Amino acid sequence: MKVWLVGMYGAVATTTVAGAVALRKGLTDRTGLVTELDEFNGINEYAPLDDIQFGGHEIRDLTSTLMEATLEHLKLNEHFPLKIFEAIKDDLKCYKAKKGTAINCGSGVAEFKNTETLESEGLTLRQITDRLMRDLEEFADDDTVVINVASTEPVVEFNEEYHSSIEGFERLLDEDRKDLVTASMLYAYAALKLGIPYGNFTPSVGSSLPALKELALKNGVPHAGNDGKTGETYMKTTIAPGFVYRNLKILGWMSYNILGDYDGMVLNHKDNRKSKIISKDSTLYKLLGYNPFTITEINFFPSLVDNKTAFNFIHFEGFLGKKMKLYFIWDGIDAILAAPLVIDIARTLLFAKKKGLSGVIKEMAFFFKNPMDTNEVNTHRQFETLVEWFRKNQ
Ligand SMILES: NC(=O)c1ccc[n+]([C@@H]2O[C@H](COP(=O)([O-])OP(=O)(O)OC[C@H]3O[C@@H](n4cnc5c(N)ncnc54)[C@H](O)[C@@H]3O)[C@@H](O)[C@H]2O)c1
Repeated sequence: MKVWLVGMYGAVATTTVAGAVALRKGLTDRTGLVTELDEFNGINEYAPLDDIQFGGHEIRDLTSTLMEATLEHLKLNEHFPLKIFEAIKDDLKCYKAKKGTAINCGSGVAEFKNTETLESEGLTLRQITDRLMRDLEEFADDDTVVINVASTEPVVEFNEEYHSSIEGFERLLDEDRKDLVTASMLYAYAALKLGIPYGNFTPSVGSSLPALKELALKNGVPHAGNDGKTGETYMKTTIAPGFVYRNLKILGWMSYNILGDYDGMVLNHKDNRKSKIISKDSTLYKLLGYNPFTITEINFFPSLVDNKTAFNFIHFEGFLGKKMKLYFIWDGIDAILAAPLVIDIARTLLFAKKKGLSGVIKEMAFFFKNPMDTNEVNTHRQFETLVEWFRKNQ
């Protein structure tokens, strides 16, 4: 199996590769991998866990290999033992990213140092997508999946004429309308055009554009997204159904997130942050069927690096109108929670492809904060749906 990571030198991507290599070498166990639960017995036949190969696109530090990128994150975060890094570092040197595009990725990404992009070579949109496709074609085989783990992009305004059909989107590329695309759309287009399954681990638009959904169906390719459900939202969508089952009324939910690292730095920019807040906020309405008062804040806290702390305060009402409170604090290591999920998403998409499924795989909602084409955000139901879907298609 091969996985192409968009944002290959980021914390999530490097931890995914390091984890896969460590697994291959027997340096770690399968803790954290959903697809290694008994419920998914048999998936290995379609998407084997051993020997996953990686490639990817990046826009910074392109002279280095994934080894240096991993070390950079490890020095900051100490998110896995140095002993493991020492044992895999030569393997990591074999992985080198190709130059990507950062069109309309927002002021957060524009601040990165040592960036190189295809558009800075003066290429048109068509030339950019051709280059992305060429890179993918050189790497891909029948068992390849693309996963977007690049920085979160700003929200884009929907354009009926160019975004709603594949004909419109192709025209947009031909007319070089750089004002109407973001990088994640271009990567998703490249993957789906080549018939490669695509997963969007970020809140960026990716393949959720109607035009690209049409392309996926036309080309018979499965895709899924958006925004990996790893930490605070996972807890939220696991806990909130408990209130629903007991018919307790949630009056207000405050979640205050602080995080460091590049992700935190990018999300500290208003335009980039908006996508994430929308992604987090829409969840409660879908769970409860009403909109309680919410405060959702995300702020950069440099010394935390890849640790994310989420303070949650839930005000709720019970029998006889009595108001009560729940407080919880989630203290997660982002990349450690995300990396196995990236592998799970890739394996599940490859399974879907081998079973001849195409379009949005909405049964994969369990993996995402803002799942496409379904309003089901209850973690318990999502898990049951995923297991049932797997059993039915196996
Ligand atoms: N638990 C989690 O960590 C988690 C959960 C859900 C979603 N996400 C999302 O996953 C993404 C990655 O998170 P991270 O912590 O690895 O962030 P990161 O900042 O460490 O990594 C992002 C990488 O993407 C690269 N990049 C940015 N724009 C790019 C582009 N247009 N093309 C190619 N590369 C590009 C950056 O240079 C960087 O190396 C973010 O969008 C984040 O919001 C993470």
